[in-house]
Amino acid sequence: MKISIIGGGYVGTVTGICLAEMNHEVTIVDIDRKKIDLINQKVPPIYEPGLKEILERHHGFIKATTDLMKAVKETEISFICVGTPSRDDGSIDLRYIESVSAQIGLAIKEKHEYHGVLVKSTVIPGTCDDVVTPLIARNSGKSPGIDFGAGSNPEFLREGRAVYDFHHPDRIVMGSEDPRILQTMRELYGKFDCPYVECQTKTAEMIKYVSNAFLAIKISYANEIGNMCKAMGIDSYDVFKGVGLDQRIGPLFFNAGLGFGGSCFPKDVKALKSLAESRGQMPLLLNAALIVNEQQPEKFISLLRRHGPIKGRKIGLLGLAFKPGTDDIREAKSIEVATSLLSEGADIVAYDPLAVDSFRTLFPGIHYAQTAGEAVEKSDVILIITEWPEFENLDYRGKTVIDGRRILKAKKTAGHYEGICW
Ligand code: UGA
Repeated sequence: MKISIIGGGYVGTVTGICLAEMNHEVTIVDIDRKKIDLINQKVPPIYEPGLKEILERHHGFIKATTDLMKAVKETEISFICVGTPSRDDGSIDLRYIESVSAQIGLAIKEKHEYHGVLVKSTVIPGTCDDVVTPLIARNSGKSPGIDFGAGSNPEFLREGRAVYDFHHPDRIVMGSEDPRILQTMRELYGKFDCPYVECQTKTAEMIKYVSNAFLAIKISYANEIGNMCKAMGIDSYDVFKGVGLDQRIGPLFFNAGLGFGGSCFPKDVKALKSLAESRGQMPLLLNAALIVNEQQPEKFISLLRRHGPIKGRKIGLLGLAFKPGTDDIREAKSIEVATSLLSEGADIVAYDPLAVDSFRTLFPGIHYAQTAGEAVEKSDVILIITEWPEFENLDYRGKTVIDGRRILKAKKTAGHYEGICW
């Protein structure tokens, strides 16, 4: 198929490159000339394991451009993959969705063939039907269901494992009221051996939010129980091993620690909460998940306080990224920990294998170590913030280690080792 991907961010780039690998002809559209040039030079604009190799191998099937109109006119389907940033009240800002929907409308005004539009951006239920479709119709003068069709096809890609996740989906969610759009998605994803969920467009949009919010609630539940376990001298990981073996519960996403970060869970839970409130409902569980998550860094720092004053203390932060395998620091727990420690006058030495450059833009004044070993050497006490594998076999030189991410091997060389929920 000939496919245009509108938005060359994380979702658009991974989706576009992986669809090209399946021999579809893909055009990635973005307003950022730098991203376009990079893709055309066979360099993905984001870091994701395996992506560069696919782009190099299948470059003949991918081009990138800033010309949205041309890309839409020359393709059969467009995926909308633009960002949906948070507003102050947690609700999402649809300005990019609105802008590209209007432009797609203008492009298909000049097209004679049917055009399919699939929304991959995470949007609140109703966005495709109430915003995207009307804007396309108004700007094209064409009729939905006849000249064009729209639907929702949410992504479930984890950062750092996105290529793997693309090829090994747990399920593919296809939401549309238009049979032609459903058929397009069936053909597009036909090779995957996984359940297909065909549903209303707004149901598909809701599935994405409810999945992320459930995982976030699971993590906050593990953290709340983990805090109790810690106070009672119980290892919460042993508890959840026993709990997760119940097939109705499942073992994954019970890793207690500093809490969830990244560009998805915090933002999506807030958006779902805001949606509930806007409908006059009290989102009690969503609220609780956010509160537990916000409190974890402070619980962590309170463990540090038991080992002496923070003011003037040399404190090593191991890991800055919101999780290992990425340079992304959006909503990373390192930000909350560093902010709190600096406000109490700590002297921070930070290390991360990938995320130092972005962290430095937020915290230019702190010292950055070149290696994890240097961070350990220059600190009195070490805080593990991200579970990078290289922290497993590090020599902690008999120092105090407070662990927010379960690097148990640190016990071997630490003078004193303590975990946040174990
Ligand atoms: C998440 C979902 O896992 C993807 O399915 C989804 O597609 C994506 O959001 C999205 O909406 O685009 P991601 O944000 O990349 O993916 O990261 P996760 O691996 O899910 O981790 C999120 C956060 O939860 C991290 O800070 C991680 O450290 C934390 N976490 C995860 C825990 O604290 N405990 C756990 O047991 C699992």
